[in-house]
Amino acid sequence: MAESMKGLKRTHRCTEVTAKNIGETVTVMGWVAKQRNKGGIIFVDLRDRSGILQLIFEEDKCGSENFEKAMKLRSEYVVAVVGKVEKRAGATNENLKTGDIEVIAEQVRILSESETPPFPIEENSKTKEEIRLKYRYLDLRRPDLQRNLILRSKICTEVRAFMAKEGFIEIETPILNKSTPEGARDYLVPSRIHPGKFYALPQSPQIYKQLLMCSGYDRYFQIARCYRDEDLRADRQPEFTQIDMELSFVDEEDVMEVNERLIQHVCKEAIGLDVQLPLPRMTWQDAMDRFGSDKPDTRFGMELVDVSDVVKDCGFSVFTSALADGGSVRGINAKGQAEMPRKKIDKLVEHAKGCGAKGLAYLCVNEDGTYKSSFAKFMTEDELKALVEKMNGKPGDLLLFAADKSKLVYDVLGALRLEIADQLGLLKKDEYRFVWITEFPLLEWSEELGRYQAMHHPFTMPMEEDLQYIESDPGRVRAKAYDIVLNGTEIGGGSVRIHQDDIQEMMFKALGFTMERAYDQFGFLLNAFKYGVPPHAGLAYGLDRLVMLMAQEDSIRDVIAFPKVKDASCLMSEAPNTVDAKQLEELGIAIAKPEAETEE
Ligand code: AMO
Ligand code: AMP
Repeated sequence: MAESMKGLKRTHRCTEVTAKNIGETVTVMGWVAKQRNKGGIIFVDLRDRSGILQLIFEEDKCGSENFEKAMKLRSEYVVAVVGKVEKRAGATNENLKTGDIEVIAEQVRILSESETPPFPIEENSKTKEEIRLKYRYLDLRRPDLQRNLILRSKICTEVRAFMAKEGFIEIETPILNKSTPEGARDYLVPSRIHPGKFYALPQSPQIYKQLLMCSGYDRYFQIARCYRDEDLRADRQPEFTQIDMELSFVDEEDVMEVNERLIQHVCKEAIGLDVQLPLPRMTWQDAMDRFGSDKPDTRFGMELVDVSDVVKDCGFSVFTSALADGGSVRGINAKGQAEMPRKKIDKLVEHAKGCGAKGLAYLCVNEDGTYKSSFAKFMTEDELKALVEKMNGKPGDLLLFAADKSKLVYDVLGALRLEIADQLGLLKKDEYRFVWITEFPLLEWSEELGRYQAMHHPFTMPMEEDLQYIESDPGRVRAKAYDIVLNGTEIGGGSVRIHQDDIQEMMFKALGFTMERAYDQFGFLLNAFKYGVPPHAGLAYGLDRLVMLMAQEDSIRDVIAFPKVKDASCLMSEAPNTVDAKQLEELGIAIAKPEAETEE
């Protein structure tokens, strides 16, 4: 039995009704959050996206027909209620925005009924995420998710307002693109009209925004959907959104400057946070040396210390052989953690091994100055003393060491630092620490490809002073690239682009591209550059990550309306799915049988 709302017009959202309306008649509409029948009185909590309002049904005020309808109300029924606002008869409910008033119902219409929902629609749900995602439309009714999506909308509004004021033009770029297999794996879309040919979904609007600079648009931005077929993690989705921008006639300082003000504006307007400018900066090498990561969490210290020099002649072969192999030995000091139970230390060792370490050496500095350690027996008293001194170890401290190739040592200690900070409750979500990471390596060696790969993308400008090494020592060349990191998450990144053909040619050479292959893949960009290309640079934020941190959530799934899960499927719609044989035929596609079947 669903009634019509004919003749009724909503006058207020639930929490727009306030003490100022006392004595007025209002019409509210929403979902029944709770119905309690206390004998002659029925209490109903009505919910909409603004919050909760208490309604009261008494037979002598609303008449028997309405009272009977009120008795039938169950959770998630949709109702329209006309009633009079009164000061709350009982005690004020401090937890509710509308806790000092109630609406004495005069009329109720049941606009639609609801089956019993599979989980309660409430804040801080304990329901398993799989169930919530299967019924995402119900999950999205929960106040936490509504707050998150409203915050996301607010952030986009503020980004647009700021960008417009700064002279950026919003331009859409295509979703059906040409595949350029540099970077993550592409999502492909088969072409019906060109059998055997495919479009690729954009991993980012990178090439198009550079073309727009060639076309003279000067300052472009877009809130752009991007697609990457990569392994998912808590802060990665196969489709995600970038706040993407590109600027002409600028260098990295200009890009960083306008972006600092963008961050400041959005933080202030969206969450009331004051961000002090300029934001701190750190070179990539410093970030690795001090935090073992190119996305350092600077909310706490526990920085890495290189102890290679101190242990190079010591008696502990784990250390000396790592050094002999060209590696390094580094440590972190977990202040005041010397009493950490052995079991917990063992867990840290396991954690380190999970990151690829062969082991983790530890040393507790006891209160009496003696040591408890996994390797003290291999070292002399003097060697140990020098090591502890280098680590600034004081009685009560726990020192942890990794010895290996530097890259692995960084990974292991970088991860341990975060793990320990998490255990100690040092990762406060309401503390916001931004940092720019600059001077990234231009290229990184790929064991898999047996060649250098662009760390960012092939159009990133090398630092002028390093150009001389691009042939002799490519790994040494730094890029005019910058990332912006917030609380250990890379929220954005960008670079100055190459606009000179001789430098671009050198770059392709370093990447092992022939010019022929470069033209085959990026011909339209390289051709465009022949007709007058301005110097340009840009940056893109991961909007989902930014919203996640501002909403103080742990996963980007909590700030995306309809996210996918780890295996890139959607639990609600069950995408991806199989398609009709006819659809495949039209596309000229035959599905190869899974291996197991072929073998039979
Ligand atoms: P990049 O690849 O660094 O740069 O991407 C920019 C930002 O997008 C976010 N991001 C993601 N967020 C969620 N899920 C993902 N799978 C995902 N992948 C990336 C990150 C990242 O910092 N075109 C260049 C930008 C430029 O040079 O202007 C680009 O796409 O927060
Ligand atoms: P072992 O000689 O293998 O028994 O190791 C002695 C101690 O050194 C143990 O605590 C190991 O966990 C630790 N260890 C082993 N390999 C490494 C390494 N590469 N870096 C740091 N510690 C290590």
